[in-house]
Amino acid sequence: MADVRILAIESSCDETAAAVVENGRKVLSNIISSQIDIHTLYGGVVPEIASRKHTERINFVVREALDTAGLSIQDVDAVAVTYGPGLVGALLVGVSFAKGLAFASGKPLIGVHHIEGHICANFLDHPELEPPFPCLVVSGGHTNLVRVKDYGVIEVLGQTKDDAAGEAFDKVARAIGLGYPGGPKIDKISDEGDPLAIEFPKGKVRDSVYDFSFSGLKSAVLNYLNSCEMAGKEINRADVAASFQRSVVEVLTEHAFEALEESGDKVFALAGGVASNRHLREAFEKGCKDRGISFYRPEPVYCTDNAAMIGAAAYYQYLKGERSPMSLNAVPGLAFGNNK
Ligand code: KG4
Ligand code: ZN
Repeated sequence: MADVRILAIESSCDETAAAVVENGRKVLSNIISSQIDIHTLYGGVVPEIASRKHTERINFVVREALDTAGLSIQDVDAVAVTYGPGLVGALLVGVSFAKGLAFASGKPLIGVHHIEGHICANFLDHPELEPPFPCLVVSGGHTNLVRVKDYGVIEVLGQTKDDAAGEAFDKVARAIGLGYPGGPKIDKISDEGDPLAIEFPKGKVRDSVYDFSFSGLKSAVLNYLNSCEMAGKEINRADVAASFQRSVVEVLTEHAFEALEESGDKVFALAGGVASNRHLREAFEKGCKDRGISFYRPEPVYCTDNAAMIGAAAYYQYLKGERSPMSLNAVPGLAFGNNK
């Protein structure tokens, strides 16, 4: 079969991104224009500003993705775009742009689910990885333990009942004055802290083996900070960060290994922004090695939001003949998984 090249666009949150991916696995270009600098001023993503910045940048980002790949729009086989979940105004910029481009060039349009994209980031540069495999998706908006039964066929085994793992990182970072985005900052400062300094609760849900709950952990950190303040005790931010992170890493790894034990799978994949956390990666690397399980995780640049992962997911939809109509709309609360 001839090579299939897909131009993919991602604008669901605060990165304007475009990429060209060949046969779902090979990245020909991956352009990411991050808005972090602007949102940092406000301590988090401001939806209105995100939409505006996407509008300003999308044209250049898509052009650069094609130029870097050495292709014109006529050379690609399809235009793919994230259509949910995410911020509605941000999603709409990518969806509208992709629709215009597909219509004008006569190329098929493929709408992609953002979380499926995160999972498919594992296919990039890993030609041997194929379903079925369990995967833990940990991002700013989602925490899902899933089983990828086939391409695009996902069974959700467990999920968070409240905050997502990344959201907990961001909120705790804000509480200890590290700023936005919190995940990478906690990752870094925790090197200087003692992960055993403070005993925080784990994000478990009683009687629900694979589900998570991070709001109790977040509250425990806030309570700890308040009680220190009231007692006039100095707060060691590195210790708080390292102890909080240990608690998150422990519950994520425990749940994943319980699921692996039950299914007997010998392959496991990690995905989403939090998957770039070094401590989480190391814990899974070691745990998988000890159990003889092959461990996959995307390169850090493919863990956080990017369009290459959207191009990977779109390829398997393309092969199945899935095409989106020109009426494709942004769906901010797009459902996830096939077991509903
Ligand atoms: O996947 P992503 O880029 O966007 C969503 O789809 O949500 O994930 C962003 C999240 C943020 O909460 C950010 O703090 C977190 O991923 N994150 C990290 C790290 N890098 C990004 N969390 C922990 N450690 C990191 N190194
Ligand atoms: Zn994401």
